[in-house]
Amino acid sequence: MKIPLLDLKIQYKSIKKEIDKEISEVFKNCEFILGKNVKSFEKEFAKYCGVKYAVAVGNGTDALYLALRACGIKKGDEVITSPFTFIATAEAITLNGAKPVFVDIKDDTFNINPDLIEGAITSKTKAIIPVHLFGQPANMDSIMRIAKKHKLIVIEDAAQAHGAKYNGKKAGSMGDAGIFSFFPAKNLGAYGDAGIIVTNNKNIFEKSEMLRDHGRKEKYVHLIEGINSRLDEIQAAVLRIKLRHLNNWNALRRKNARIYDGLLKDIKGITTPKNFKNTEPIYYFYVIRSHKRDILKEFLKKSGIDTGIHYPIPLHLQPAYKYLGYKKGDFPNAEKVSKEILSLPIYPELTVKQIRFIAKSIKNFLSNEKYLDI
Ligand SMILES: Cc1ncc(COP(=O)(O)O)c(C=O)c1O
Repeated sequence: MKIPLLDLKIQYKSIKKEIDKEISEVFKNCEFILGKNVKSFEKEFAKYCGVKYAVAVGNGTDALYLALRACGIKKGDEVITSPFTFIATAEAITLNGAKPVFVDIKDDTFNINPDLIEGAITSKTKAIIPVHLFGQPANMDSIMRIAKKHKLIVIEDAAQAHGAKYNGKKAGSMGDAGIFSFFPAKNLGAYGDAGIIVTNNKNIFEKSEMLRDHGRKEKYVHLIEGINSRLDEIQAAVLRIKLRHLNNWNALRRKNARIYDGLLKDIKGITTPKNFKNTEPIYYFYVIRSHKRDILKEFLKKSGIDTGIHYPIPLHLQPAYKYLGYKKGDFPNAEKVSKEILSLPIYPELTVKQIRFIAKSIKNFLSNEKYLDI
C-alpha cells in the first residue's frame, strides 16, 4: 500500500466540477485583481472566523509581515514568539526591522509556554505572536492576560489552524489580529500561494488594506508606502468553494485522529497528541513522538508510508538566525521535540484501512527486536 503524507489530487477530484466552473467564470469576467471573488471571500472568511474584517493577501508570510506593520511594529522593537515554528513567523518580524525573541514551548501542545513569556519581556517588547501549531490552539487566555498587563499587541499565527477553536472561539479571532496561510497543503489551501489577515480592529483593517495595495485607497493617491500583496481572483474563487467544505474536512481529520488515538494508545515507545478539554484542534498533521523517530520514519517509508518532520531544526538553531546569539540548550523542549516528532498522514480522504495499515506498521516497528536497542 502506498500512502502519501497528503493527497491533493483526491481532494481536487471531489470538487472538480465546482472548481472548474468557477475558474472559467473568472476567465469570462477577466477581472483578475481585487475582483468580486476576493471581496466576497474576505467577507465569508471573516464571518467564518467570527471577526469583523479580513484582508486577503498574497501568502501567509505577507499576512504576518503586513499585520505587524499595520500594528506599528518597527526597527528596534522586540517580538516574542515560539522557536518551534516555520521560519515565516520570525521572518515577518525581521522584515519589519524588529527582533524575534524566542520563548520555549510546552512539550504537550508544541506551542509557546505562557509561564515563560514574562521572563522574556523587556522595555523594547511590543508584541507576542502565538503560533497555533499543527492546528492545536495555544493557551490564549494566559497569553492575552500577559499582553494586557504589559500593553502588548497579540497577533495570532493561525497559518495552520483554519477553524480550530479555543474555548469556543476561532483561532485568529482572539488577538489584535490573526493571520492564515492558504498554501496548498493547508487544511484550507489555494491552488497556489495565498493568505489573509483577520481582525476586529478597524485601524488594523484599514491600514492592512492600504499596505497590501501600495499604500493607497484611491488609484493614484498613495497615503503611505506599501507593497503589492493582493490575493488574486482565481485563488479567491478556489478558496470560496473550498471554505464551504472546510468544516466537513476538519471533522473528517478529527475523526481520523480519534481512530489513530484508539489504535496507537498504550503502545510503548511513542507518544500521541494530547487531547485538551477546551480546544478543538484541526490536525494539520497528526504528530507523534518517538525516541527512534529517524529509523521509524525510514521503516514506514519502506512500507510505503510517507511521513514528515515539522520541524527538524528549531529557529534559534537555524543558520539564518545565528546572529541572534542563541545556542544549543536555550530552549530544551523545542530541541527535544524537534528530534522526536513525526507527522503522520491525516488528510480527510484517508481511509480507515489506510490508518489501520499505518498504525499496524508502527506497531510492527516497535515490536521488532532488531530496533529495540538502537
Ligand atoms: C506557522 C506558519 N506561519 C506562517 C506560514 C507562512 O505562510 P505562507 O507559506 O503562505 O507564506 C506558514 C506556512 O507554511 C506556517 O506554517
